[in-house]
Amino acid sequence: MSKQWSAADIPSQAGKRVIITGANSGIGYHAALKLARKGAHVILACRDRQRGESALARLTTDTPGAQVELALLDLASLASVREFAANQLAQRLPLHLLNNNAGVMAPPRRLERCSVPASSQDAILEGLESAYAAAWAWVAEERAAAAAGTMKVGPAAGP
Ligand SMILES: NC(=O)c1ccc[n+]([C@@H]2O[C@H](COP(=O)([O-])OP(=O)(O)OC[C@H]3O[C@@H](n4cnc5c(N)ncnc54)[C@H](OP(=O)(O)O)[C@@H]3O)[C@@H](O)[C@H]2O)c1
Repeated sequence: MSKQWSAADIPSQAGKRVIITGANSGIGYHAALKLARKGAHVILACRDRQRGESALARLTTDTPGAQVELALLDLASLASVREFAANQLAQRLPLHLLNNNAGVMAPPRRLERCSVPASSQDAILEGLESAYAAAWAWVAEERAAAAAGTMKVGPAAGP
């Protein structure tokens, strides 16, 4: 039987630049940790500064000298998505891996009074979807030329 894969099998990530959304906890944090241990430059894209800084501190305590940084990104805010994308673009650095990890699984059912008519709600959702996709489009398109082998992974969030 073949040997079971483990994080030790991850090849060197030296020279790779990685963005992980929702990297302050859970799967995102552990992906950041494992990739940073292998030498990647990891950007922890988190919505809450305090939780992000705490994750950054945990990670650098685990791996002193790790190339990690915090960038604020709240995926529920289009202004935040745009600002994050603009800041990343302005750096004109290659991106080798985008891990669209942030998300909420099985949120509790919540009913709220809503003053927006159902037809407009559909339009809002469509607008959100396309704006979010557009904000991330640079990752796939602009960086693809700069970084052969660009790869994106993640659950439903993002294109
Ligand atoms: N664990 C599972 O069994 C499982 C199964 C299937 C899919 N998934 C998916 O895998 C991903 C990670 O799961 P997990 O178990 O590691 O969850 P988790 O520990 O709850 O982590 C989710 C992360 O996403 C962040 N996040 C949520 N909404 C955000 C927003 N609007 N903007 C930016 N960041 C946001 C959270 O930030 P805060 O700390 O600030 O809330 C947190 O860092 C999720 O997308 C989840 O749906 C998980």
